[in-house]
Amino acid sequence: MKIKALGSQGIQASAIGLGCMGMSEFYGEQNETESIRTIVRAHDLGVSFFDTADMYGPYTNEILVGKAIRSFRKEITIATKFGIVRDPSNPKARGVNGRPEYVKSSCEGSLKRLNVEAIDLYYLHRKDPDTPIEETVGAMSQLVKEGKVRGIGLSEVNVETLRKAHATFPLTALQTEYSLWSRDPEDGILEACKELGIAFVAYSPLGRGFLTGQIKKFEDLSTGDFRKTSPRFQGENFDKNLALVNEVSSIAKEKGCTPSQLALAWVMAQEDFIFPIPGTKRIKYLEENVQTADISLSARELVQIEKVFPKNAVSGSRYSEAGMKSLNQ
Ligand SMILES: NC(=O)c1ccc[n+]([C@@H]2O[C@H](COP(=O)([O-])OP(=O)(O)OC[C@H]3O[C@@H](n4cnc5c(N)ncnc54)[C@H](OP(=O)(O)O)[C@@H]3O)[C@@H](O)[C@H]2O)c1
Repeated sequence: MKIKALGSQGIQASAIGLGCMGMSEFYGEQNETESIRTIVRAHDLGVSFFDTADMYGPYTNEILVGKAIRSFRKEITIATKFGIVRDPSNPKARGVNGRPEYVKSSCEGSLKRLNVEAIDLYYLHRKDPDTPIEETVGAMSQLVKEGKVRGIGLSEVNVETLRKAHATFPLTALQTEYSLWSRDPEDGILEACKELGIAFVAYSPLGRGFLTGQIKKFEDLSTGDFRKTSPRFQGENFDKNLALVNEVSSIAKEKGCTPSQLALAWVMAQEDFIFPIPGTKRIKYLEENVQTADISLSARELVQIEKVFPKNAVSGSRYSEAGMKSLNQ
């Protein structure tokens, strides 16, 4: 697995990372033993970039990841996030907090749960509309000065916020959804990252599992699965999107790879500063995804994919109405 510079601040990461969110919440059943084995196997396969957040679980995902990486912590890049506030008595409710005192206390919490001396990459999960980005990033930069964090990043912000933040303190990475069916970053964000030397971390590169071709009907998702709240997985949208995935799956078959590998290879083919972090809690899927490091797409194949799955072909927004409001701030 290729190891590359992640942004311009001296941090490195494997070309493909591992998203750990689903090991604790959102995507059906959990199995801690298999999840820990998956993280260890990822390390064996050369994956050195692991992604979590304080709000996954909430809190339990950081503990799980901290436990799994203990014996090889020094060899990897660990990224976590803060800023989305959960209410244990109302699991569906979400707040956002980017105030300086919250930045500081959140970091202390993550350090303890991960059981590490420093966080390699610390992201603001969503911009707080009531706190100027300069204040949040100012507090995050203080953590770098104190040695508690090595690099900082943002998630799902617009170009203006990205530039303001980067002028306050150099950002290592921006993490935003990007895949065949989530192409918004092509409208200026990728270009800005390239210009500023900021790595782009593509989350949900498999379209939350939809682009793998394994989710055939809405009922395949278990009760409480977060994806049931996403308009893309609902009603007519589901069927229209499945038709697109079926087209892409035929191209994968022709190429001799799986639809998941094709979806990941497509993300990786866009720009060298893009790091996909596919999520899985299963060794089988992890191994399949990691093999994508050896698959490249020709210009002809990229055109073929674009033809069957053009930029704005997807039906439905990626989050519920409330979730959409916290994006692109
Ligand atoms: N910044 C943000 O706001 C944000 C938002 C969402 C996610 N993230 C981060 O990004 C990471 C990745 O995104 P994601 O997990 O949402 O979506 P994803 O990587 O697009 O898809 C994950 C889903 O695909 C399934 N899957 C993975 N590999 C597969 C394969 N080879 N064949 C069939 N199915 C496969 C997984 O199944 P299993 O669950 O059964 O393994 C899981 O349900 C997360 O883990 C999280 O760390 C960040």
